[in-house]
Amino acid sequence: MARAYITTPIYYVNDRPHIGHCFTTTIADALARFQRLFGRNVFLLTGTDEHADKVVSTAREHGMTALQWADRNAAAFQEAFAALNISNDDFIRTSQSRHKEKVVEYIRRLQSHGDVYKGDYTGWWDASQEEYLTETVAKEAGYVSPVSGKPLVKRTEQNYFFRLSAYQQRLLKHIDQNPDFILPESRRNEVLGRLREDLQDVPVSRAVGASDGEPWGILMPDDPGHRIYVWIDALFNYLSVVDTEKRRNYWPPAVHLLAKDILWFHAVIWPCMLMALGEPLPRTVYAHAYFVRDGRKMSKSLGNFVDLDVIRAYNARYGRDALRWFLCTCGPMGSADADFAHGKFVEVYNAELANGIGNAASRVGNMIEKYFGGTAPDPKGQVALHAMPEFGWPEVTATAVRNAISRADQWDLAGALREGVELVRRVDAYINATEPFKLAKKIPPGQPPQSDGPFNNDDPRDRLAAILYHCAEALRIASLILSPAVPDTMGRLWKAWNCDPAASVDAVNGQTLAHMSQWGGHHSIKPGQKIAKGEPLFMRADPAEPPPA
Ligand code: MSP
Repeated sequence: MARAYITTPIYYVNDRPHIGHCFTTTIADALARFQRLFGRNVFLLTGTDEHADKVVSTAREHGMTALQWADRNAAAFQEAFAALNISNDDFIRTSQSRHKEKVVEYIRRLQSHGDVYKGDYTGWWDASQEEYLTETVAKEAGYVSPVSGKPLVKRTEQNYFFRLSAYQQRLLKHIDQNPDFILPESRRNEVLGRLREDLQDVPVSRAVGASDGEPWGILMPDDPGHRIYVWIDALFNYLSVVDTEKRRNYWPPAVHLLAKDILWFHAVIWPCMLMALGEPLPRTVYAHAYFVRDGRKMSKSLGNFVDLDVIRAYNARYGRDALRWFLCTCGPMGSADADFAHGKFVEVYNAELANGIGNAASRVGNMIEKYFGGTAPDPKGQVALHAMPEFGWPEVTATAVRNAISRADQWDLAGALREGVELVRRVDAYINATEPFKLAKKIPPGQPPQSDGPFNNDDPRDRLAAILYHCAEALRIASLILSPAVPDTMGRLWKAWNCDPAASVDAVNGQTLAHMSQWGGHHSIKPGQKIAKGEPLFMRADPAEPPPA
């Protein structure tokens, strides 16, 4: 079975989780769920990056050891991801020995080829990000950190270096030959622009200072005077986690998801290290933009983070799929930042969930209940009504599924989900055009619900049956496309309608979306099947209500 390895950045354990971290992990989750629907064997990885110096100092301020502090905050990330129903297959913490041992092994391998060597380094140190900036980047930023705005410090130290310069040409060639290696395209151009300059070798270690009390991090092999630079340590997580006998086949990753702030590490340094290690490169490095809040950057000083408490409040009021939907469809997947604004959240929630799939499912469920006693009617082979060839359902639904697959495979999550939303709109349009409630009024009382013989276009009972069957089956297919973003709610619909694919699918035999979505296929709604009206899937939100907090 084809495999798909999907990763998120590993988050600094010193921070508390907020909507930015949750965004990347949620889109990774939804894309992973799509890949699973395509019948692929998926491995979804997220985790925490723990070896920053700040962890040691903050822990000390709290009277804890670095590990105790890391334990506490890593748990907060796990809680946040559980609140968002993230289906990760593992959670890596860089303080775990399974990771640390592998990192030492990789560094040794690089040393043995001469790709890691010892030398002097002078650069501009950004203490807030724990990274060195090159002269060019430092100058452009006015010698302050582009992230925190704090002054950069010029420093010289003895270090181990990675021979990045040796891989520049191979990297350029790879980017050139693989248009989807760096996405979106604007980010690819940005990287290509910077690659016009010669690459400098980069430090992969830091001297262990005399004042460094507690050893925290990973020491350079055979040189306890140096620690592996936290960024190099962190990047290796993607490899260390699957570098085991059972997981080796997941490599290389289908996609590394991250934001623009850390693109250089992922699109330049990391691939070159992989080349040096002789490992195949990930298919895509996808760098999205930022969420801002109500038009303003989220920051500690403004205290305007959408944090775990806010996330819980949204879940409590709207259900946990609602926030997932907003993140998946309105997030900053392109090159422009996106706004986390409650007004927009409510608008999208009402339009696409409550008045979209929610309303369509309850309309159709109610009519099937009322006119056919809660069992699916028989379309008698009709796939479109005579006068309405534009609603040729097998074709319409197959096209939606095909488009969703190709978009999700290009990591266009919102585009893939839009196919589901559009399908729901089409069902609404079909109901408006065919007016099943008016047809029902033409049926004289006391008749059996359908005619005896083949489909009779002049018999309102048969027309009504065909229409409602078409609606239910089209909505079932739409719900499959929507499910990676709103898995709980679609699961409830499948239960009510007795069409849960998981109930009839042998999970390991790789049933694909293409198969499950076949009109009239193995998973289709069968005439006579119970269709319960069910509870509303999404309650309408009141736009006048103040935001949850
Ligand atoms: N630890 C490093 C990553 C190492 S990966 C080998 C790091 N951690 S971080 O905690 O700062 O997380 C950065 C990532 O969090 C971003 O790349 C992005 O995925 C996510 N986001 C953080 N703030 C964000 C927004 N405001 N908006 C969207 N995503 C953001 O960098």
